[in-house]
Amino acid sequence: MGFFEFSKNVYWVGVKDWSRRMFDALIPLPRGTSYNSYLIVGEKKLLVDTVNPGFEDELKKNVDAIVGLENLDYLVMNHAEPDHAGAIPYLMSLNGKLKILATLKGAKIAQTYYNVPYDRIIVVEDGDGLELGGKTLKFIEAPMLHWPETMFTYLREDNILFSCDFFGAHLAEGFFDDEVEDLPVFAQKYFGEIMMPFKVMGRAALEKLKNFEIKVIAPSHGPIYKNPNKILNLYRSWIEGFTREKVVIVYVSMWGSTENMAHIMSKTLMSEGVYVVEYNLSYADLGDLIKDLVDARAIVLAAPTVLNGAHPLMVYFLYLFNALRPPTKYCIILGSFGWAGGGVKRIKDAVSANVEVLDVLEVNGRANETEIAKIVEFGRRLAKKVKEI
Ligand code: FEO
Repeated sequence: MGFFEFSKNVYWVGVKDWSRRMFDALIPLPRGTSYNSYLIVGEKKLLVDTVNPGFEDELKKNVDAIVGLENLDYLVMNHAEPDHAGAIPYLMSLNGKLKILATLKGAKIAQTYYNVPYDRIIVVEDGDGLELGGKTLKFIEAPMLHWPETMFTYLREDNILFSCDFFGAHLAEGFFDDEVEDLPVFAQKYFGEIMMPFKVMGRAALEKLKNFEIKVIAPSHGPIYKNPNKILNLYRSWIEGFTREKVVIVYVSMWGSTENMAHIMSKTLMSEGVYVVEYNLSYADLGDLIKDLVDARAIVLAAPTVLNGAHPLMVYFLYLFNALRPPTKYCIILGSFGWAGGGVKRIKDAVSANVEVLDVLEVNGRANETEIAKIVEFGRRLAKKVKEI
């Protein structure tokens, strides 16, 4: 049996993708993911979101076992990305009366991506409702979370918010939040990877949600929150960019010199009582690293010069760092070179203007005693700054 009823006449009919290990050819999925699809049964029957391409039959079996796919009246497309909307063409081909509910932008994407004819789309606007007979829905536009067309769906009788990617977590295991001990870690990763660049839109969405009594949050990835305040409070904190006395040290090293500088910095900060996390870019898990950027107050970037520029792994990381817009306030840049420097300057030029670069040091070969003393001095100064707030 691949479904379960978690509120009266409201079913999870999604799919667990235990073996998927990457998303967008970018995000690691160490414990798989789920594509949550929900069936609401009133006099009319409605599906909220679908599943990733390749899992259409599983979704069909689940819906068939409860009401029969041919009896579905509506399909809510909260978000048009294929992991949630990919089964739309299949479902529509098997059920000729099925209508899609989407925002205006969603309607356009549904036509482009999934060839949905316009006469099978019902465009909904913020605050619109839909009466299913015994179940009443309200649609909440929540654009750019994380695509232009995204919206939430609220089920009034059960006080359930279907939030699609917002509040999601890439995890296959667990149906409910209290079953997965480290769910907050995965939720924080997901926030960092997907939602962090859209904090302004996230804040607007949280404001709108204050108008709704929410007893359950049913996202499109990961467990359902029976205790929604936990994730709501975490999102409030992450969206406001609240940071901890925490420094992330991100480095890459070719012959150990830069690594040595990173370690000296790390030890200095720890001796000053600052929480430190180190990542060596040559093998770091990107998801873990992004998770730590969500609430770190400062970053130390350390890389050697390669062919007159910064090491390519650092260049790649800086692209992501700037695009993800973490709430990082301070930065220190360290680097080393063999016969010609310049790497640290490239890093400094590339770091987002929102981050204050406190100190920069580039050494030739391995740091000597004077240079080590400088790193320690930088570290103490950074620790003071990090603790000031
Ligand atoms: Fe889970 Fe934006 O798709």
